[in-house]
Amino acid sequence: MEFMFKIRAKAKMLQKRIVLPESLEERTLTAANILLKEEIARIVLIGKKEAILEKAKSLNLDSIDKAQIIDPDTYEKLDAYAKLMVEMRGSKGVTYEKARELLKDPLYLSTLMIKSGDADGEVAGAQNNTGDVLRPAFQYVKTLPGISVVSGAFIMVLKDKEFGEDGLMVFADCAVHPNPTASELAEIAVATGRTTRAIAGFEPRIAMLSFSTKGSAKHEMVDKVVEATRLAREMAPDLKIDGELQADAAIIAAIGQKKAPGSQIAGKANVLVFPTLETGNICYKLVQRLAHAEAIGPVLQGMAAPINDLSRGCSVDDIVQLVAITANQAGGM
Ligand code: ACO
Repeated sequence: MEFMFKIRAKAKMLQKRIVLPESLEERTLTAANILLKEEIARIVLIGKKEAILEKAKSLNLDSIDKAQIIDPDTYEKLDAYAKLMVEMRGSKGVTYEKARELLKDPLYLSTLMIKSGDADGEVAGAQNNTGDVLRPAFQYVKTLPGISVVSGAFIMVLKDKEFGEDGLMVFADCAVHPNPTASELAEIAVATGRTTRAIAGFEPRIAMLSFSTKGSAKHEMVDKVVEATRLAREMAPDLKIDGELQADAAIIAAIGQKKAPGSQIAGKANVLVFPTLETGNICYKLVQRLAHAEAIGPVLQGMAAPINDLSRGCSVDDIVQLVAITANQAGGM
């Protein structure tokens, strides 16, 4: 696929340091081997060197010795990281002893590496759930200036090239923030526009979705989307955003013209922003399954450094792709 080919080629050029904290997990280690062999990124693994190399040998992986392997018991930066954790979250009850304990968890250690500039990004989640991957990141890497909420976008590769940008669309939030307020939804729209430019590689036309088009229904849920559209336009005058739009008015030209005449977006949206996580998560999975689309992501957006969460059902190729995307984010954010 041309889109992923470009992402991998750019990652190769960037040579970013990406941590894979679930280092003994089979799909992760197999992906690490491909990434190292094809030189898509510099890979950092966390764990006991002998155990990782032994596991690699048992899986016939021949390039793992090229990874940087960090031992969470003896790494020379543990003391500095623990002090930083106390500085950042002492008021939330993090003592030096508690910090040293937390650093035994590779998910905490990897976020502290990123926070301290010792790594550029992280991909995890083949083994751990979303909350466990994201919590350390929320606590120590935090959000980008001006953004209060992290969200997750999917790049949808549709079989039908008539939709979106030659068959590519971006959907958000499909992964993180359950019930955004109007201003959080506006931030999600702006962050999704930026992800679209930086990762999907096209100019976004953003539809703020609802069950109403331009006042066809009255409800507080519609009001939220109307307000989010206003705020998003204010936050990012450089982005083309319109709402509130129903899904058909957003993507079907004839319906867009009828329900939202004069809209720059209706009928030709290539980015869909959903009003809640429920709607976003359900829709991306339905499009993936019913339309046999490929769903690449979630690409987490709004975080101060790229940290991406895999589905526990991911394949080796999903991990390779997400590392390449993470490297691109590290190069472009
Ligand atoms: N963006 C930025 N910071 C956040 C966010 C967010 N979206 N959510 C929580 N935080 C921060 C909080 O402000 C808090 O910071 P503080 O400790 O400095 O005050 C910290 O993170 C922890 O906050 P909690 O409210 O305790 O958050 P919790 O850890 O309970 O939940 C989580 C966060 C796990 C992301 C939760 O919102 C969640 O479960 N979301 C759904 C994830 C999910 O299951 N997605 C669907 C599956 S993914 C898929 O299908 C692809």
